[in-house]
Amino acid sequence: MEGVVDIHLRQVFKDVGGVDACVTEFVRINDQRLPAKIFHRYCPELTMGIDQYLPIRIQLLGSNPQAIAYHARKACQLGAKAVDLNFGCPAKTVNKNRGGACLLDETELIYEIIARAKEQMPEGHKLSAKIRLGFNERDSYLENAQAIEKGGADELFVHARSKQDGYQPPAYWDCIGEIRNAIGIDVIANGEIWTVSDYALCKQQSGCDDFMLGRGLLANPGLARAIKGDSMEFSWSELIPCLQQYFAATSAAYPKKFIGNRLKQWLHYLQRHYPQARHLFERIKRSRDECFIRSAIEDSHR
Ligand SMILES: Cc1cc2nc3c(=O)[nH]c(=O)nc-3n(C[C@H](O)[C@H](O)[C@H](O)COP(=O)(O)O)c2cc1C
Repeated sequence: MEGVVDIHLRQVFKDVGGVDACVTEFVRINDQRLPAKIFHRYCPELTMGIDQYLPIRIQLLGSNPQAIAYHARKACQLGAKAVDLNFGCPAKTVNKNRGGACLLDETELIYEIIARAKEQMPEGHKLSAKIRLGFNERDSYLENAQAIEKGGADELFVHARSKQDGYQPPAYWDCIGEIRNAIGIDVIANGEIWTVSDYALCKQQSGCDDFMLGRGLLANPGLARAIKGDSMEFSWSELIPCLQQYFAATSAAYPKKFIGNRLKQWLHYLQRHYPQARHLFERIKRSRDECFIRSAIEDSHR
């Protein structure tokens, strides 16, 4: 998730368990050729022994089929085993530059992007795509899913809402079931899975066996584990070492002027599941003092 799920949060998810794979924040592709260092910035796993980390897909966002194909190949040459193409981002700045969800009305172009990328990727590397159900209406998902399959993608992630629906509940999981019936590649269901019961309902309505968790996992890092059958609640006191580790890692990785920003952002999501996260957020929200934030995390034990 853009601006949120960096390597440090991916490491937390690995440590907590239950998650099978992650996607990087998106690498924006325009007509310029990006140097390797950009891929390494979004995906430090590439230089740090990729197999020690959660399996990772490099996420590309753009609309130029040749440029995306070039960078999909480059990602693989740099060590990525899988590439994910984004056709779901609703952000105005992204859509204005012809990226993300605005392509949902351009099925031919989606096909071109997938087909050119697949052609350029070496054998044995996975290509996935992520779509919403449509742009203004929930009306283009079947054509787009078929184009993505025809282009040669291996997997399709479906966020079961239109761009217009934004992030408003509900998610239309039954539409994912229609997609599953229309194509033969793996379909992974996404949208509005906050609890194990949401997961069960999504599974029933979509017929899917695989699920992508977004905000629900940020709110409750134990959700993937719980979905896989772990009946133990992932408690606030178990989360504290993760917060400490995450704060230390992000403080070292980002410029000092941003100290605490990534942690505050995560606490914003955690508040939904843990009342303690709200208290901690309130305490540190105006602070940029590393020692103060560190001890506030520790105090939130009590
Ligand atoms: C802050 C934020 C950043 C996101 N970034 C991405 C992204 O980079 N790529 C993507 O495919 N989806 C992105 N999404 C969408 C989520 O992956 C997911 O599809 C959406 O939130 C619905 O799932 P959820 O209800 O489980 O959160 C983002 C969502 C949020 C809230």
